[in-house]
Amino acid sequence: MKADKVLVLGGSGFIGRHLVAQLARREIKVTVPSRRRERAKHLIVLPTVDVVEANVGDHAVLERLARAQDAVVNLVGILHGDFERAHAELPQAIVAACRAAGVRRLLHMSALGADVQGPSEYQRSKAKGEQAVREAKDLDVTVFRPSVAFGPEDRFLNRFAAMARFMPVLAVPCPQARFQPVYVGDVARAMAAALDDNASHAKVYELGGPHEYTLKQLVELVCSLTERRRLVIGLPEWASRMQAFALEKLPGRLLTRDNYRSMQVPNTTRSPFPFGIVPQALEAVAPAYLLPSGPRERYPQLRWRARR
Ligand SMILES: NC(=O)c1ccc[n+]([C@@H]2O[C@H](COP(=O)([O-])OP(=O)(O)OC[C@H]3O[C@@H](n4cnc5c(N)ncnc54)[C@H](OP(=O)(O)O)[C@@H]3O)[C@@H](O)[C@H]2O)c1
Repeated sequence: MKADKVLVLGGSGFIGRHLVAQLARREIKVTVPSRRRERAKHLIVLPTVDVVEANVGDHAVLERLARAQDAVVNLVGILHGDFERAHAELPQAIVAACRAAGVRRLLHMSALGADVQGPSEYQRSKAKGEQAVREAKDLDVTVFRPSVAFGPEDRFLNRFAAMARFMPVLAVPCPQARFQPVYVGDVARAMAAALDDNASHAKVYELGGPHEYTLKQLVELVCSLTERRRLVIGLPEWASRMQAFALEKLPGRLLTRDNYRSMQVPNTTRSPFPFGIVPQALEAVAPAYLLPSGPRERYPQLRWRARR
């Protein structure tokens, strides 16, 4: 069945904005609930998109939202906080809401590395959520497991770029941690392609970009793309753990011990990118949004180097 009306939970976020835009381009009527409508204001301008303020943690609200939809997409996810609730309990509640509302089609976003035996709570809770939706054999479920996604609004490469802007030395935790960054637009294209593709029912798709990098290589690449010559040093394990311990206590929680544990497992895949999509390389996309240092920034640097 062709999906004309789709509920996108977590549609206000980074991947959501790309997926919702793609669905809107296909003239699909999209409903995006958000705990704060203000957070999703970039979506309000899209012609077929309805942003509603709602707490999807409330089962009755979730069921009401699912009613009269052709498909539900779950993009809710967190990097720190109540993992059990966001990654395990919510997918169970989504399955229940789909059943109650008579919605068969469910697209669920998991993550590469999701594993009930994984070293981090993030990975274990993601695995539980995945299990909950895959066990729902009466629904047509497709699961996606991306590596870390990059794109204009990412909190990954942009964060390294922001750090490189102010810090002359960058101390990278878990420098040998492996990633296969995937362009957010490709992730959204894969999900949009799956929506009406019966062959994707009961499938799990791992989504990785064309190249693998260590975390240190990624930081060096960002410095190079932004034309900032910085000393990038990899921290040993004990110092990486200490950095995570310290940073998780600060506002913004740039790194937590759970994130540190996630990085103990390579975030890479050997699966080919699905739906005939050729994934874009980081080197091709990132220069368009990682701005190089401008003359204003370079002038003090030159003075500093010249000791003037
Ligand atoms: N970005 C990546 O590199 C990456 C990699 C692998 C997997 N993933 C997965 O992909 C999904 C989307 O990621 P993203 O980067 O787009 O995330 P994001 O930008 O942080 O957006 C997450 C969304 O989840 C919603 N949300 C968070 N906690 C919630 C809660 N307790 N109850 C209800 N809604 C909640 C937020 O909605 P409101 O705040 O508007 O209510 C927001 O729209 C997540 O499942 C994530 O784990 C992402």
